[in-house]
Amino acid sequence: MPPQFGRVGILAVIFTLLCFSAWRLSHTGTVSDSTIGNLSGSGHIIDAYGEYIEGTVPPIHDTSHKHDYNANAPPPPPKPPSSPESIVSSKPKDDDGDDGLDLDDDDDDDLAVGDASKPQLVRGDKIYITVTVKEVETTTVFQDRTVTDNPSLEMVEDRTTATATSTINRPFERYAGLVEDYTESLTPDDQKILREMESTSSRQDRLMKMYDLDGAEDWLQFIKDQDDAAMPPFTKFAQEYIYNWQHPDPSACKDRQFLVLHHNWDGNGLGTVVHGTGWVLGLAIRLNRILIYDDEASPGQNFLEENCQTNGIRSLDCIFERFSSCNSTDHLTEDNHIKLRSYWRIPENINMSTSAVPPLFGQMLKNNFPEMHYDAIKYWWRAQASAYMMRMNGPALKRLKSLRIDDSQNTAVTHSSTGELIDTKVPYPLPDGSFSMHVRHGDKGVEMELIPFKKYVDRAEEYAAMNMIMSRKTCFISTEDKGVLDEAKEIGNAWISVNTTSNENWTWVWSNIPRINGGPVEQLNSFGNRTDMTIKWVLQLFFAIEASHIIGTRGSGWNRMIDELRCIWVDCRTPYMEVGPFEDWVHYNF
Ligand SMILES: *[C@@H]1O[C@H](CO)[C@@H](O)[C@H](O)[C@H]1NC(C)=O
Ligand SMILES: *[C@@H]1O[C@H](CO)[C@@H](O)[C@H](O)[C@H]1NC(C)=O
Ligand SMILES: *[C@@H]1O[C@H](CO)[C@@H](O)[C@H](O)[C@H]1NC(C)=O
Ligand SMILES: *[C@@H]1O[C@H](CO)[C@@H](O)[C@H](O)[C@H]1NC(C)=O
Ligand SMILES: *[C@@H]1O[C@H](CO)[C@@H](O)[C@H](O)[C@H]1NC(C)=O
Ligand SMILES: *[C@@H]1O[C@H](CO)[C@@H](O)[C@H](O)[C@H]1NC(C)=O
Repeated sequence: MPPQFGRVGILAVIFTLLCFSAWRLSHTGTVSDSTIGNLSGSGHIIDAYGEYIEGTVPPIHDTSHKHDYNANAPPPPPKPPSSPESIVSSKPKDDDGDDGLDLDDDDDDDLAVGDASKPQLVRGDKIYITVTVKEVETTTVFQDRTVTDNPSLEMVEDRTTATATSTINRPFERYAGLVEDYTESLTPDDQKILREMESTSSRQDRLMKMYDLDGAEDWLQFIKDQDDAAMPPFTKFAQEYIYNWQHPDPSACKDRQFLVLHHNWDGNGLGTVVHGTGWVLGLAIRLNRILIYDDEASPGQNFLEENCQTNGIRSLDCIFERFSSCNSTDHLTEDNHIKLRSYWRIPENINMSTSAVPPLFGQMLKNNFPEMHYDAIKYWWRAQASAYMMRMNGPALKRLKSLRIDDSQNTAVTHSSTGELIDTKVPYPLPDGSFSMHVRHGDKGVEMELIPFKKYVDRAEEYAAMNMIMSRKTCFISTEDKGVLDEAKEIGNAWISVNTTSNENWTWVWSNIPRINGGPVEQLNSFGNRTDMTIKWVLQLFFAIEASHIIGTRGSGWNRMIDELRCIWVDCRTPYMEVGPFEDWVHYNF
């Protein structure tokens, strides 16, 4: 082979590697001012013409799971039940400290993993606790001693007795099984107390209130009624400030300055529209302007039906509270506004920071917490802006609630004691301590790694085991991938440790919305009434934030929205757990 071919080959390989690194780097969400114009809201790469550049979908990674998903396989044929004596006599050989249920002597596996594949208990078997089993083998030696003044002369007599009254040496059956029917031992007083007892939860009360809100005043009051410690700092102030900023008396609109935001691109998801608009809202406040939508072509208009408002305007105001009391139809003059063609095309002569937080809020946060990182400040602002934007208006929220409480619109399944998948009641609201998972698949593979569902379940199962008193294995799933729901149906539980958990089997809950494992354009084109479809999607957010424990991938804007809304509206103290790689959400994207 002529040498120049070798060199050309090497150069080609180096060039390919460079291109790949550049492509990969551009997907990590690293945001600098020089890339702002090119990255769309959710990190799609768009070229100078606003065209979406397709990348290769990275494979779903990490298919190794720690937990045991075979728990729901039919149990192996029962072994002949061993008699208590045989267990007891074989036990002393086993002093590896492996306490717990270990009926099979050949099986020295670590109990922490895969317990459920161990021999299933056969009805009638008793549970033995190792410590007591060992005790019976120990010969208990009592010494009767006569105390005298001179210890060396004490009379010591060993007395070995099998009938010793050691309190430990009880018949083991006393410990068999933790299961108890409490009703058998209730006193009349207990019964009276029980009749009067009602469980209360301020979280549940708040959730039900949320579904009944009607109007901007209601939303503001809802925020003000919240415990400050449950929200990011200065939330009450910020929500009211944003509202007042955007809502001068309409008669004063003409004297104000505006930033006018135009519809960007139908390919943007709702998360991108919300985060992009929030970003620009920050810019508007920084420039001492009110942000209004361009009534001719309003951001996110493709999520709504043509004539969704009586005034004929197709904008997010169809389903959300009015964004501003001023509007582009009536209040623009020659010199009172700047038009923005999209979130990402800020005119060159305007300086903008990536966080876009209005300086008043930035300084407020810094005064409160001087070392607060700018990324966190940015996230704080995203949360405030999203929660402001996504206050559903009365009629839309009414529709949303009717979908939430309609049993035919939602499904809950669990594995019964006989191991069958059964339908169960969809709780409203989700009980305290439940989980929510947003499994973002679909088209998102071009810009972040798609995480397999089982990784979410592993994380939840671990959390439930580590925090068993306040966890309930009820989980709301939102996803565009129907395959995820099929997978959930197969999972009764994924034990990490038998009985170190809250309850045994998961209850999986989801909404029966149409799903296409694709992007927003594909979905909207296929599902008929766009306004109604969008309300169903927003229902997925409301449903998700009913849960105390959120598991997701922050690389997805939808996931960030779940996190943001629950922080501002419900409670920010409960955990968010990430299952994706850190690089996918560093700087929290846009
Ligand atoms: C970013 O967009 C500008 C035009 O808006 C273009 O000139 C530049 O090449 C793009 N940069 C990248 C990295 O795509
Ligand atoms: C614009 O605002 C004015 C004053 O609030 C209102 O009367 C008018 O109906 C609004 N127009 C549109 C198109 O929203
Ligand atoms: C933008 O920022 C740069 C550097 O801080 C400054 O020199 C410039 O004057 C600013 N431009 C505007 C329009 O504020
Ligand atoms: C949980 O499901 C398994 C099988 O999937 C079943 O054997 C077990 O009895 C169920 N547990 C409860 C408490 O229903
Ligand atoms: C785990 O709990 C179940 C009841 O939920 C009980 O039947 C079983 O014996 C327990 N297993 C162990 C090892 O304690
Ligand atoms: C579309 O859905 C919305 C919200 O449910 C409803 O108000 C509207 O009447 C529907 N439009 C059509 C044409 O069915």
